[in-house]
Amino acid sequence: MSAINVALLGFGTVGQGVCEAIDTHQERLKEVLGKEVKIRAILIKDPSKQREIDPSIRITTDFKDILDIPDLHVIFEAIVGEEPTYTYVTQAIEKGIHVITANKAMFAKYGPELLKKASHNGVSLGFEATTAGGIPVIGTIRQLLKVNEIKSIQGILNGTSNFILSQMRKKGLSFETALKQAQEKGYAEADPTNDIEGYDAFYKLLILSQTAFGRQPDWKDIRQKGITHLTAEWLQAAESFRLRFKHVGSLERDGFNRIKGGVEPILVHDTHPFYGVEDVENAISLKGSLVGRVTLLGPGAGKYPTGSAMVEDFLSLIEGKYTVSPEKTVTSEDIQEESMGQWV
Ligand code: NDP
Ligand code: HSE
Repeated sequence: MSAINVALLGFGTVGQGVCEAIDTHQERLKEVLGKEVKIRAILIKDPSKQREIDPSIRITTDFKDILDIPDLHVIFEAIVGEEPTYTYVTQAIEKGIHVITANKAMFAKYGPELLKKASHNGVSLGFEATTAGGIPVIGTIRQLLKVNEIKSIQGILNGTSNFILSQMRKKGLSFETALKQAQEKGYAEADPTNDIEGYDAFYKLLILSQTAFGRQPDWKDIRQKGITHLTAEWLQAAESFRLRFKHVGSLERDGFNRIKGGVEPILVHDTHPFYGVEDVENAISLKGSLVGRVTLLGPGAGKYPTGSAMVEDFLSLIEGKYTVSPEKTVTSEDIQEESMGQWV
């Protein structure tokens, strides 16, 4: 039985999550795909770090080594920042390799262009993990709400911010202590300014806009505010009025089909579905033209939830759920044919 060959870019919180997910769920993957999934190589930045990695997996700091792997089908991308990520993803797509990315900073900016490039090259680009950690919101919009027109989106989109606000309110922790805990748990970005100043939620909102509305608003039309000005006293005082501060991103299409929105802390009442969304959880509430309001809730960051999002995305990609062009859909048969054809 031939294997599906994959490589990982990055072996931090997310890369390790993907590696473990493939390892612990190999049997389930094999049941569905009829093939084993083999991690061939991992790209890292700092070769001096001690890592526990199966010795059969090649470790490299040179992306060319990844591109040169014979018969490589899929790259899981979990490194940091716009570059060199954009360059790597572009080169992979141009070589006919499918990509699954977790990198929202890169994808918010280059996603539309990369999706077109992927379609042009007959490959797929999965981005479930860019938004809301383990919650399958991208798949829900792409695969399960195709007839509905999405009217509006509201979401708690950053696990770190929600964790900090919850810990400050429940335990009276200082902002700094709560942030440190979020970093220790692997929730925060490499530069946590992205989390606490709202950039991360902003990128996710743009990705949701692209997915649900087919386009992004003008970036400067989106209000963006973080949580750094909120104090434990404010959070606790609001509680006595049955109110909680939540960092919420929202988007709406107006009567002229313009997309408006913002990312900012708002007060929600105890009747609001976001009131009880605590710690690292995220929640997204979508309003569809047929279904009405649907709210998805779950873990918004961390090793296993994000690993879950990436391997589920991988499965959808291999099962052919992403149409890459009007004529072509990726299937495991394609992979077999491709394995026997151009990539051997
Ligand atoms: P980490 O900082 O934990 O890990 C980053 C990894 O990428 C490290 O292994 C690092 O190498 C490697 N890396 C960084 N830059 C380069 C480079 N230029 N070339 C090669 N390797 C590089 O980050 P996370 O795992 O937390 O996040 C990874 C990506 O996933 C980010 O884009 C993030 O926004 C996104 N994400 C994170 C989530 C989370 O819960 N943490 C959830 C969803 C998405 P080395 O080990 O050598 O330092
Ligand atoms: N830093 C991000 C968060 C990771 O806290 O939500 C998940 O995208």
